[in-house]
Amino acid sequence: MSELLARHRHVMPSWLSLYYEEPIEVVRGSGRHVWDADGNRYLDFFGGISTTLTGHAVAEVVEAIREQAGRVIHTSTLYMVRPMIELAERIAALAPMPEAKVFFVNSGTEANDTALLLATAYTGSNQVLALRNGYHGRSVSTQAVTGNRFWSASPWTPFAVTYVPNGDSLRGPQQGLAGDKLIEACTAELRYAIDTQTSGRLACLIVEPIQGVGGLVTPPDGLFAAYQEVTADFGALLVSDEVQTGWGRTGEHFWGIEAHAVDPDVVTFAKGIGNGLGIGGVIARPDVMDSIESHSISTFGGNPLVTAGALANVEHLLSNDLQANAAARGAELFDVLGPLADRLPAVLDVRGKGLMVGIELVEPGTDVPDPARAAAVHERARAGGLLVGKGGLYDNVVRMVPPLTVTAAEVAEACAVLVAALEAVGG
Ligand SMILES: Cc1ncc(COP(=O)(O)O)c(C=O)c1O
Repeated sequence: MSELLARHRHVMPSWLSLYYEEPIEVVRGSGRHVWDADGNRYLDFFGGISTTLTGHAVAEVVEAIREQAGRVIHTSTLYMVRPMIELAERIAALAPMPEAKVFFVNSGTEANDTALLLATAYTGSNQVLALRNGYHGRSVSTQAVTGNRFWSASPWTPFAVTYVPNGDSLRGPQQGLAGDKLIEACTAELRYAIDTQTSGRLACLIVEPIQGVGGLVTPPDGLFAAYQEVTADFGALLVSDEVQTGWGRTGEHFWGIEAHAVDPDVVTFAKGIGNGLGIGGVIARPDVMDSIESHSISTFGGNPLVTAGALANVEHLLSNDLQANAAARGAELFDVLGPLADRLPAVLDVRGKGLMVGIELVEPGTDVPDPARAAAVHERARAGGLLVGKGGLYDNVVRMVPPLTVTAAEVAEACAVLVAALEAVGG
């Protein structure tokens, strides 16, 4: 064990897990590449858990941070913060609802916590619908709406939570269904769950348009419109957790929820907007955002440093039309990886959208999850110079979420490494 690893184990919590049998210390990044402390270079297709949206050390973002840090890092929201206001205006103009208001916090967890606060304040109800296999954060409130027991750290909950189908066609009660039939079955179960498990006065339905931590489970387009038709009758707001699916990552849309042709009442974001800076936020209809009657504040939320950096990052994203690149490069990824589900008996499914790809590993020829095989692919990819992630309810899904600036040559290189790793252990 390296000296740094021993120190990590000694001082950090036991549940703070590290990737790889020999964990990596990343010391430098540039574009889509990172270097470890031993000088090894890796192609980064996990981007610090789907966070490095435009790439490492993007000149405009670095300069904006440097410049702001030299002037003032922190003032608090008791004073007007120009980059915060400018960023909020930019985001409001991109929002999937008219007249949107924006509130900044420090993480995805806090963004979802705020969304839940707004929904409960607005409706006067604590009854929340959440998706099976969803992940929304690590606080008491957000893990309480996380439908994955491996990420549910505590049984305590401030809400009465009812879990409803996530549109999974491979696992769970709707297994084997697809398209309209899947939507009908899920919606029937949603209606039955509301009738049998709630009082009929709901705060919200919270969804991830594509489940990230849950292994890229991708519901059929239109599912959440069908859900909202039901839940609106019970007063529930629709909260779309865009922490992973926002900013054009899915290629086809700027917000993942747009695939469902439904208007969310609240959107949450974090990760990619700051390209690694600690920033998250909530976008909401004005009547919802302004429904809190007490004081509320986030000391660091929207601070000059992170909002200046995030503003430069969003400008870079938009002026280079990185959503279009996500669509084009995503199509190339799926062209190569998609057919593996038919060719390799241990690959059950290749799914996702744009630059959000999951490859589910199973015992060959079955649908039995095989986390050891996924771990072996993960290690082999690293040995081949490629960083990818893992996830899924049973930790058997390899995840790829590269920066949206990824090039065709980098996609081809990553696919070659991953296909070789899958062929070696893919059954
Ligand atoms: C969809 C989603 N929501 C919320 C979160 C929590 O974000 P954070 O880790 O910034 O608190 C995550 C983190 O992975 C996520 O993927």
